[in-house]
Amino acid sequence: MEEMFWEEHTGLKREAPGSEESTLRALDKVILTGEKPMVLDIGCGPGDQTITIAKTFRDATIMALDTHEPFLDELVKRSDEARVLDRIEPLRISMFDMPFPNEHFDLVWAEGSAYIMGFQNALRSWKRFLKEDGYIGLTELSWLKAAPSEEARRFWSLGYPQMKHMDENRKLIDEEGYELMDMFILPESDWWDSYYTPMEKRINELKGKYQGKPESLAVLEGEMEEIGMYRKHSDEYGYVFYIIKKN
Ligand SMILES: C[S@@+](CC[C@H](N)C(=O)[O-])C[C@H]1O[C@@H](n2cnc3c(N)ncnc32)[C@H](O)[C@@H]1O
Repeated sequence: MEEMFWEEHTGLKREAPGSEESTLRALDKVILTGEKPMVLDIGCGPGDQTITIAKTFRDATIMALDTHEPFLDELVKRSDEARVLDRIEPLRISMFDMPFPNEHFDLVWAEGSAYIMGFQNALRSWKRFLKEDGYIGLTELSWLKAAPSEEARRFWSLGYPQMKHMDENRKLIDEEGYELMDMFILPESDWWDSYYTPMEKRINELKGKYQGKPESLAVLEGEMEEIGMYRKHSDEYGYVFYIIKKN
């Protein structure tokens, strides 16, 4: 089953909704003043956003952290092609076990990965790694409507029961001692272009390969259901970019 998961995910440009345009829009709110800024990209995946950060902040060193070695290999390959590899340090380390000293980073980035430890927990535990006035940029699956449909609520109560409304997340940002610099909802094209559309194609191919294996087919059906859910309810939930500053 795990093998099929990676067959589904290997080779995608991104491993979560997002785009270079959205990463750049969020980075535009970040001001790095030090001479040699240090950036930490948590759950970097194959590194699309890591490369955008490296191209934007030409003096920065970016520690790119993930637990899945093949993603780090892909990041190295892509960074080399983009000629930014000399400033990227790939690290196979879990976000639950980060060995960095306090106040080490000017910027912590996490596109589509904070959910792994939970939004509030991530804000709380990453704070000590930030220098004074350091920034966090992260995307988080969030409710956009105060009263979402029963169907969407039921689906996500299984997939991500901790999902909060974006206004609740804004409150948590404040409670955890950060200043919100900007927040915006990722456009629907960020879900389709580099993520759901190629994934849907991959799922359809795998359905053929796994014919006669009901357990595998059930997993693929579950993934298709998630895509169908977004097609139907994209006005009710979305990924929100939160750009915040240590206060
Ligand atoms: C949804 S993907 C997002 C990847 C990338 N940021 C992007 O937007 O394309 C989440 C990433 O977190 C990584 N991950 C999972 N558990 C982790 C952990 N405990 N520590 C660090 N990374 C982890 C996964 O391997 C995956 O690359």
